[in-house]
Amino acid sequence: KKRIGIMTSGGDAPGMNGAVRAVVRTTIAMGCESYGIYEGYEGLVQGGDMIKQMFWEDVRGWLSEGGTLIGTARCMSFMQRPGRLQAAKNMITRGIDALIICGGDGSLTGADKFRDEWPSLVAELVERKELTAEQVEPFKHLNIVGLVGSIDNDMSSTDATIGCYSSLQRICQAVDFIDATAFSHQRAFVIEVMGRHCGWLALMAGVSTGADFVFLPEKPPAENWEEDMCMIVKKHRELGKRKTIVIVAEGAHDLELQKISPTKVKDLLSKKLGLDTRITTLGHVQRGGTACAYDRMLSTLQGVEAVKAVLDAKPDTPSPIIAIIENKIVRKPLLEAVKLTNEVADAIAAKDFARAMSLRDAEFAE
Ligand code: F6P
Repeated sequence: KKRIGIMTSGGDAPGMNGAVRAVVRTTIAMGCESYGIYEGYEGLVQGGDMIKQMFWEDVRGWLSEGGTLIGTARCMSFMQRPGRLQAAKNMITRGIDALIICGGDGSLTGADKFRDEWPSLVAELVERKELTAEQVEPFKHLNIVGLVGSIDNDMSSTDATIGCYSSLQRICQAVDFIDATAFSHQRAFVIEVMGRHCGWLALMAGVSTGADFVFLPEKPPAENWEEDMCMIVKKHRELGKRKTIVIVAEGAHDLELQKISPTKVKDLLSKKLGLDTRITTLGHVQRGGTACAYDRMLSTLQGVEAVKAVLDAKPDTPSPIIAIIENKIVRKPLLEAVKLTNEVADAIAAKDFARAMSLRDAEFAE
C-alpha cells in the first residue's frame, strides 16, 4: 500500500486541521495509508513517535478546530543536509515516499528542495551503509504536494490561502468590538493587523469595517499622507461620524521603509485633530479560533485534490501547490508560485512600490 505523509509547517492557520482531516480520509478512501508527521519538519528529522499512522477516526471533529493539532515548528536541523539525510532515512524506513505539506512559501520551498536533493540523499544513505540498495530501490523519487496554509494570503498563484478568511473574520469581530467603545467615547483607534509583507488582511479589514484610513506595505501613502489622513478623518467627523478607525498593516512599518508607526498616527490624530486616541495591536488573536465556513470548505476540497495530485504524479512532474482560482480548485507549479511571491517581497524591500502594486494587480487580473 502506498504511504502518504501529511505535515503542517510554519505559522499555524485556521483550516490546517481541516486539510489534515481531508488528506487522511482521502488517502484511506483511495486504498493508501496515511501518516501524520508531528511538529513539522522536526518530526521528519526525529522520526520515531513523531511519525504516526493515522486512521479515519483520528481526525474526527478536526474540521472546525483552530491551530494545527499535529503541531508545527521552525526546524533548524532540516535546513542542514545531515537533518535532511536523517529525514530521508526516517521516511524510507517507514515506507513513505510522498509528502503533502500545508504551510507558507518558506515551508513549501524547503519541501521542493528536499525533493530535488532526494536522489543524492538516498545514494548517500546507501554509501554510508545506513540502508541497503534493496531497501531504497522502491524509493527512487520523492513526491511533494503543497497546500498553502497562512493567515496572510500572501502566496501568488492562488486567490486565497487556507486561514486568511478566518483571520479576516477575527479581525472584523475585534474591530466591531472596538467600534462599540470608540463610538461611546467618540474616540479614535489605530489598529495594527498582521500580514507580514502582505497588505491583504489590512486592506480587506478596512473595506469590511468601513475604516477611515488604511496603511499597506505595497502602497506607500503620498508624501503628504499626514495632511491627507487628517483631512479625511476630519471630513468624516464633520459628516457626523463619532468614531475613527485607522488600520495599519504590520508590514507597513515593520520594514521601516515608510515613516509610519501606530504611535506616529496616534500622535497626529490626537495633536492635530484633538481626538482622544488609543492604539490596539490585535496580535495572535488573529491566528486563533475556529475555522470559518470558507476555510473548512477550502481545506477540505484542497486536501482531497492534494491526494489526487500525489497519486497522479510522475517522476518528472514539477511539484504542485493546490490553489483556488476563480472558485476552482486547481494545481499550479510550486516553484513558480514561490518565485512570484518573492518578487513582491523583493520589490517592497527595494522600495519599488509601483512594481509591488503591479505584481499584486496582475495576480488579481489573472
Ligand atoms: O505568517 C503568519 C504570521 O502570523 C504573520 O502575519 C506574522 O508576521 C507572523 O506570522 C508572526 O510570527 P510569530 O507567530 O512567529 O510571531
